[in-house]
Amino acid sequence: MSFTVNPLSPVLGAEITGLDIAQPMGENLAKDIRQSWLDAGGLLVIRDQTLTTEQHIQFSRHFGPLFGAPGETPLQETVSRYLHPDHPEIYRVSNRVENGKPKGRAGAGTYWHSDVSFKQRPASASIMHAIEIPDIGGDTLFCNMTAAYEALSGAMKEMLAPLHAHHDFAQTAATQFAKPVVIEEDLKGDNRAVHPVVRTHGDTGRKSLYVNPGMTTGLDNFDDEESAVLLGFLFDHATQPEFTFRHHYRQGDVVMWDNRSLMHYAINDYGDQPRYMERTTSIGEKPA
Ligand code: SIN
Repeated sequence: MSFTVNPLSPVLGAEITGLDIAQPMGENLAKDIRQSWLDAGGLLVIRDQTLTTEQHIQFSRHFGPLFGAPGETPLQETVSRYLHPDHPEIYRVSNRVENGKPKGRAGAGTYWHSDVSFKQRPASASIMHAIEIPDIGGDTLFCNMTAAYEALSGAMKEMLAPLHAHHDFAQTAATQFAKPVVIEEDLKGDNRAVHPVVRTHGDTGRKSLYVNPGMTTGLDNFDDEESAVLLGFLFDHATQPEFTFRHHYRQGDVVMWDNRSLMHYAINDYGDQPRYMERTTSIGEKPA
């Protein structure tokens, strides 16, 4: 099966048309899709997909083990109420309410972040199927942390090279979740990690910044003030428009982003217009 790939912006992103991912696919096709994804800086939009939840999971398995799959690490317990009742691999992002219960997490990801960076093995691919989208709004911003890293001066790169940063779900919990929703158990142990500030991508070998405002709490061995200044600089630097792309969804888009080299920000500007997305999240390698 062949498909067409077109760039979406100079800095990141490509769209694929002419491909139906609903059917089981061989490893060769999955490899070609994976290569297109990496070539596009880690953001691929596969247009016009009609997928069942099972087909979405089946496709996602080509990109690594999935959080929540039988025998695999679950996402943090706090979001368990938003998972698909029959498929714990599926995290539902939605403002829809059914029978008095939220059908997904409303306003999820309304801050710059890289999915579950607080895990020892954080996410590589997140694969989101846009099932219901607002008429206006509900876009997602992406930022290319490889391009941002590469644009730094040699002296800054040298200074960052040996540094590590703390990532902690407690920060996300404090700023993004209403208190009663947070499961206390999530605030310790498994949802804290220390990762290099600059990581090398397991597939491309390219270096990226790996810190994000939503989950990074500080730089290891720096005092709070120093850490805030340096992280603040990196966040401002990385989110400059030149390193970002804003994705406007079409219904049926399957959007794959690479959390190893991108941050993203879901814009919560669509009020009561219904939005329903199903997302799988692949377990990536330990950042190094
Ligand atoms: C997320 O995974 O952070 C949500 C993305 C979105 O809803 O656009």
